[in-house]
Amino acid sequence: METLFIGKSLHFLHEVESTNTYAMNLLRNVNPIEGTVIHTDHQTKGKGQRGAVWASKMGQNVTMSVILKPTFLIQNRSFYLSKIAALALYDVLTDIDAKGQYDIKIKWPNDILINQKKIAGILIENNLSDKSFQYSVIGIGFNVNQTEFDGLLNATSLSFAFGKNFERLSVMMHICAKLEKWYLKLKEGRMDLIDETYLKCLLGLNQLLDFEDSNGYRFAAIPKSVTTQGKLILLMPDNEERDFDIKELKFLLGS
Ligand code: BTN
Repeated sequence: METLFIGKSLHFLHEVESTNTYAMNLLRNVNPIEGTVIHTDHQTKGKGQRGAVWASKMGQNVTMSVILKPTFLIQNRSFYLSKIAALALYDVLTDIDAKGQYDIKIKWPNDILINQKKIAGILIENNLSDKSFQYSVIGIGFNVNQTEFDGLLNATSLSFAFGKNFERLSVMMHICAKLEKWYLKLKEGRMDLIDETYLKCLLGLNQLLDFEDSNGYRFAAIPKSVTTQGKLILLMPDNEERDFDIKELKFLLGS
């Protein structure tokens, strides 16, 4: 699989605290080219969303960060980076599931699910100056050959889902190719296509789902869309629309 720039510079590390932290340090200290990829067999302090720990067994998964320099993107459009990263992983999975036998979805904001279980997560860290982006680190944890998840009931992997082992390097290159495809669309200004495709892949769009807000209040509501800033718009029990950011809302279908 060929790419123009993502993965042309590759750092393979046996072990590191976090590939995202490593990438941020590279950006502070040297000037890595856009598209630089850092991959490791093991993270000692892997970071997940909402300050969680990202645990991944040594040598079994794809644990990587991609350095992008989206200087063309205005600051309040950062959610497009989340969208394109999620779409890239979605594409990788649908390619692997060539017969279309699995239910593949993006769980807002950017978890990737296969048959309702989480197979991959994304953590993006940005650096902004004035109103535009200097750089962005797209951290991706993609479960490949791990089959035991130590009590994480809602986790899965390629191997678990498809019943065979996968070559991690080719999964990583596949991710690079799809991320590049969507990043170039973003650069071309194809927000319409990105929005439309993201919504099409979104778990539970226009369906009644159970949620819990940050006060512990549980309710059923219908996801209708996502704001430009990346908030989820829900049609609430009182028939009003309300938007929520990631800290304000939990899906009640595992996580
Ligand atoms: C999530 O909570 O779903 C996001 C998980 C992101 C994990 C990846 S693994 C590579 C990169 N380095 C990190 O420390 N985190 C991301």
